[in-house]
Amino acid sequence: MSNRTEPIRSVKGTRDLLPPDTHLWQRVEAEAHRVFAAYHYGEIRTPILEETALFARGVGAETDIVMKEMFTFNDRGDESLTLRPEATASVVRAYIEHSLYNLGGIQKLYYIGPMFRRERPQKGRYRQFYQIGAEILGSQNALVDVEIIEMLVLFLRRVGIREYQLLINSVGCPKCRTEYLDVLRDALEAVKSTMCVDCQRRAETNPLRVLDCKVGADQPIIDKLPKIIDHLDPECREHFARVTSGLEARSIEYQVTPRLVRGLDYYTRTTFEITSGALGAQNAVVGGGRYDGLSEMLGGPPTPGIGFSIGQDRLLLAVQSAGILKPEAHLAAYVVWMGDAALAAASQLVRDLRAQGLSVEIDYDPAKIKKAMGVANKLQARFAIIIGDGELASGKYQVKDMAGGEQSELEPSAIAEYLIGGEREIRSSG
Ligand code: HAM
Repeated sequence: MSNRTEPIRSVKGTRDLLPPDTHLWQRVEAEAHRVFAAYHYGEIRTPILEETALFARGVGAETDIVMKEMFTFNDRGDESLTLRPEATASVVRAYIEHSLYNLGGIQKLYYIGPMFRRERPQKGRYRQFYQIGAEILGSQNALVDVEIIEMLVLFLRRVGIREYQLLINSVGCPKCRTEYLDVLRDALEAVKSTMCVDCQRRAETNPLRVLDCKVGADQPIIDKLPKIIDHLDPECREHFARVTSGLEARSIEYQVTPRLVRGLDYYTRTTFEITSGALGAQNAVVGGGRYDGLSEMLGGPPTPGIGFSIGQDRLLLAVQSAGILKPEAHLAAYVVWMGDAALAAASQLVRDLRAQGLSVEIDYDPAKIKKAMGVANKLQARFAIIIGDGELASGKYQVKDMAGGEQSELEPSAIAEYLIGGEREIRSSG
């Protein structure tokens, strides 16, 4: 028909996550809660909306994120608001706002949630994407850098990721970076006219950003530029050496990558990424690093910090291709009934089983037994429970194991325990 209303579609670069995929998302999140709790992190939930100035100051006015990728709008009161493109700046804002530095010791916080960047969508790159991140505030100790990477690696192993590379670098502190930037600027002076227009501008405004230029023709030029790792001051060099030796002591493999300066301005000293070959072009699954000056940049007390964010969408692509973690989506029982009296008994049983935490399904519309058993099969129910006049009369219901085929007759009060036994069997074999 010509006058049909056009359906409304999701906004470009955003997507719906549906079952059964969401079961796997939940498994991954449950593992994050477990692993991070073992390392004594507490969850923080910050707003998705922040004042634009937070990211301009925190992430850096000259970065691609702030210059090109933010969803920024003027609120009715003409306040400039932004959908968060990342959460580290928000965590540090909250740390300052709630004076968490007064609690003494270090603060370990983690978050899971959506971020927004107006990038060109492609596989593994979305405008609304999700991150699982962790941040430690209040310690400059290189062993803290090592510990957070150790936690990350454990988490990746727990969700079944085996094939990845840890890339690591140091971007120094403001002191040694200033000296390096002079050297870099001099080197760029000679070559910048042959580079892309963005790099020509960056060479003036923020030369470090030249190093993460993705334009193919610029790559051989960038490879020959001086490396920050060769210009670290003694303290930064010592810090980096302690990080790498700590990783070695834990048998965590890494690759020193001198160009890894990361696309955000807040980094100091350690920077790292985790890439996975399984992902194609968008191969960075995790980005992280130290940000010892961020708290001060945001008006807080001097507070060193380090953290990482895992791109959850990309992580899930990798988890799916590794195929080790299985979604826990299964139905313990499908209840089949025949006749009105059986419906009442079936409804009661379903309610009792669900109250005990078992996943159970029932269709309230009458159906022929063959068809109902077909549904149980399609839903991959572990058991089918059959209730008809005969079962009501005997007070025992038929419980059929859908995999093995054997059938038992059980009193309603014994069914929950029987199903829980079946669940345990699945868990121990899976
Ligand atoms: P980031 O490198 O900008 O770092 O992002 C971290 C991860 O988020 C990336 O490695 C990638 O997996 C994922 N990601 C980024 N943009 C997209 C996108 N458009 N679509 C899908 N996934 C994406 C940060 O955000 C820092 N806050 C990390 C950090 C925490 N540094 C210190 N603490």
